[in-house]
Amino acid sequence: MSQSHVYPVNPEQASHSLIDKAGYQRMYEQSINDPETFWGEQAEQFLGFFQPWSKVLSGDFSKADVSWFKDAKLNACWNCVDRHLPQRADQTALIWEGDDPADSLPITYRDLHLAVCRLANVLKQRGVKKGDRVCIYMPMIPEAVYAMLACARIGAIHSVVFGGFSPDAIKDRILDSDCQSVITANQGIRGGKVIALKDNVDKALANCPNVHSVIVVKRTNAEVSFKQGRDVWYHDAIDQVDDQCAAEVMDAEDPLFILYTSGSTGKPKGVLHTTAGYLLSAAISHKYIFDYHEGDVFWCSADVGWVTGHSYIVYGPLCNGATSLVFEGVPTYPDASRFWQVIDKHQVTIFYTAPTALRALMSMGNEPVQATSRQSLRLLGSVGEPINPEAWEWYYNVVGEQRCPIVDTWWQTETGASMISPLAGVTDLKPGSATLPFFGVKPELLDADGNIITGAGKGNLVITQSWPSQIRTVFGDHQRCVDTYFTAYPGYYFTGDSARRDEDGYYWIIGRVDDVINVSGHRLGTAEIESALVLHPKVAEAAVVGFPHDIKGQAVYAYVTLMLGVEESDALRKELVAFVAGEIGAFARPDIIQFAPGLPKTRSGKIMRRILRKIAANETDNLGDTSTLADPSVVEQLIANRHNR
Ligand code: PRX
Repeated sequence: MSQSHVYPVNPEQASHSLIDKAGYQRMYEQSINDPETFWGEQAEQFLGFFQPWSKVLSGDFSKADVSWFKDAKLNACWNCVDRHLPQRADQTALIWEGDDPADSLPITYRDLHLAVCRLANVLKQRGVKKGDRVCIYMPMIPEAVYAMLACARIGAIHSVVFGGFSPDAIKDRILDSDCQSVITANQGIRGGKVIALKDNVDKALANCPNVHSVIVVKRTNAEVSFKQGRDVWYHDAIDQVDDQCAAEVMDAEDPLFILYTSGSTGKPKGVLHTTAGYLLSAAISHKYIFDYHEGDVFWCSADVGWVTGHSYIVYGPLCNGATSLVFEGVPTYPDASRFWQVIDKHQVTIFYTAPTALRALMSMGNEPVQATSRQSLRLLGSVGEPINPEAWEWYYNVVGEQRCPIVDTWWQTETGASMISPLAGVTDLKPGSATLPFFGVKPELLDADGNIITGAGKGNLVITQSWPSQIRTVFGDHQRCVDTYFTAYPGYYFTGDSARRDEDGYYWIIGRVDDVINVSGHRLGTAEIESALVLHPKVAEAAVVGFPHDIKGQAVYAYVTLMLGVEESDALRKELVAFVAGEIGAFARPDIIQFAPGLPKTRSGKIMRRILRKIAANETDNLGDTSTLADPSVVEQLIANRHNR
């Protein structure tokens, strides 16, 4: 091994892991060399079909028209719920842990089945049909999971919108995929604070005339306004329907869900995943990466509004018949021991979270961790952004007490499931490295000219062959899917990330090479924040970049040129921050706004973001080539007035 910090698999872990190193090698090689046989066998093991497939894989990257398990019929909800009833009706499927530590609720597979059937019947009764899009805007409560599965059950396509998004962002997403129904809650509660979900939906729907149905879960006792005919309470509606509902027979390639994500340009993209391939990748990765065994209590602390929640709270664990914990709260409420208390309370064995949460908790010292037992834990996971070695070591030594391997899983909304990750108990670990590719994933690094880099090196990360949970399209705009992912390097899927590969073939994700930034594990397009800023009447132009932040990973730095005659002031700065929160959501708020009378542009008018990034990062002694600048004095001015000293 080339790195000094290597954590070899300990023999105790290896003794009970599902496979060993040779097993991984064998399965990996087959998955790459003979994907049809490999994935056919795995599909038989992991999924139940109503009708078998005629061909495992067809299509290719050139038109982004891949199809997995052609002609097969199945239902994702049936696979996650009904299939388990004969053996595990009484087993806990979901453990709900509320924001208030006094609130928790176990939900068995039998309960889950009844709740999902009822909601599916309500949807049908309210006119939702196979292929219709349903927007889900929910707090982290069991009904959010019921809602996703109820859609899957009747063949409706869910589009979950994270509960932190603003009314405008909800509206854009509803309109883009023409959702005509919404499932929400009157309010959400996080960290003791109330979130006005139904009010946000009402504001969004003022501009969504096609929405005819809003189902509202009563999470708090607060009254909210109701529109007659359009809005119903969830608890009233489910009381009036049957608790049995047959699962719709779906084609393997029928859409399962849309999830919006930020790109480098334009409005967010509706990433579309289909049924069989997505479900298979979610299930197999959940099993092998987390070395999932019967009896494990699995906790992924993400929100169901992001892909991590889709794949590792809902579809992966439930497809495997696991017990999955749904947490409504935040890591620091009521205090900084909360995560670890939840682990003790529910005897969590596998815990999966984001580096940003770890860094925030690490900054509060070891005492809140050490005040808890954590003896149930046997495995830890990380996702969403690069984990810095300091946070890794803290997670390993303090949280896991050197007993639990850490799986650092690299993947994306578009990949549907983990792509590069250690397998717990199989892969030797290096802090900060996502290590090796998962089954069926063949990564390469390309140089700027698109040549493959062999051996150790650094380049743009691409994937060379299709995997089952590959993005199928951008909803309503297939060309955008082709252009974004399959055109920069013909024949490859381009991830938008750069990475390094070391002498052992281990991958180290460096970060995005496009104008996407990752703030506290939330993916944000700088173009979206710029568009929000320029909507403000006092803003003439804006350029947004990321800059390194100790806790958030990256933070938002906005350069704003005001309209002629508008005075710069701190009050205006605050107003603009609030304005962005209103347009997108609080999580997209700029951390720093620098008023910039001019922006560095080339003679053809293109903003030189590279320079803005350097100024934001305070790396001004090496700005690189500035010879193409139309007016070099702009840069001097920006440096003199920078805010992150
Ligand atoms: O830059 C990579 C980073 O997050 C991006 C994907 O964001 P999103 O679609 O929101 O999905 C996040 C959850 C899967 C990637 O392009 N990223 C994700 N996981 C890691 C990561 N960067 C480094 N290490 C990771 N483990």
